[in-house]
Amino acid sequence: MDETVRDVDAFGPVLATDGTPEGSNGAGPPDGHGGDGAPVGGSGAGDGDGATRMSSLAVGIDVGGTGVKAAIVDLATGALVSPRVREKTPLPSTPEAVADTIAHIIERIEASGHDTQGLPAGAGLPGVVKDGWLRTAANIDKSWLVTRAEDVLERHLSRHVLIVNDADAAGLAEMRYGAGVGHSGVVLMLTIGTGIGSALFVDGRLVPNTELGHLEFHRRDAETLVSGAARERRKLGWKQWAGEFDAYLDRVYRYFSPDLMILGGGVSKETKRYIQYLTPRGPLEVARLLNAAGIVGAALAAAEAQGYRPPESAGVREVVAAG
Ligand code: BGC
Repeated sequence: MDETVRDVDAFGPVLATDGTPEGSNGAGPPDGHGGDGAPVGGSGAGDGDGATRMSSLAVGIDVGGTGVKAAIVDLATGALVSPRVREKTPLPSTPEAVADTIAHIIERIEASGHDTQGLPAGAGLPGVVKDGWLRTAANIDKSWLVTRAEDVLERHLSRHVLIVNDADAAGLAEMRYGAGVGHSGVVLMLTIGTGIGSALFVDGRLVPNTELGHLEFHRRDAETLVSGAARERRKLGWKQWAGEFDAYLDRVYRYFSPDLMILGGGVSKETKRYIQYLTPRGPLEVARLLNAAGIVGAALAAAEAQGYRPPESAGVREVVAAG
């Protein structure tokens, strides 16, 4: 089992449709993972209170600069209940090519014994999201700007797919299941990977599309200097990169005075290599869902857009999705 799955599962057992705790991971045997879309975790229809409730399962898709990943998520716990399938981001990363890649990934999830039909589906994309459109495209093919993303995905996947900003998706997941749980006030998550993404929450509500990776920094677009990809491109060691990133972080603290800062994205896997060099001005936590956050948050946003609400026992606050 990898780190991500262990972290995610720390927030609750994964239940099979028959209610048996799987007790472990998101990539176990294909049978019994709720693949028929039936409710799990006690939040489904037919639980005796007369209310019609949605299944707590949804499909989450994360379109990154290097990889496209997807899985079925149990929203009662934030755990992945199907294998997490990853394929390389196609080049060029046009809407049609990415949609084909997602279709292939979903076929592979289905082939592993998990039915995705009828489940809400959401995709995190690296840009500003408004009304089903991607409005900026720093790290993805520019042709996304001239075609409505949700229409392309719907055509290729034969289902509606809600799109959200990828960092907003990761933030939603951390607020609901990870480092942000129970935190009110101003919470700011930064995702550090191919670009730098941001997700800003005020008392648990998302302020979408904040795009703090594009703050001006040393007269440049910050992410071109201090993202994970920039670190590799500039051949910086962790200490040197962390020094520069720390100065960027300081700027972000000065602008927003967050009550909590959460660092996530690809670079959150490497925390041990750089955290000692950071001098944060306030509370700072490392994301807990690691690279599952984007998948989990996109699934959550899609389900909430269709009316899903978490079971009371989850003890979480309402968050509002982008898009
Ligand atoms: C994009 C953001 C995105 C971030 C991380 C930036 O280049 O503008 O929308 O969240 O990369 O992928």
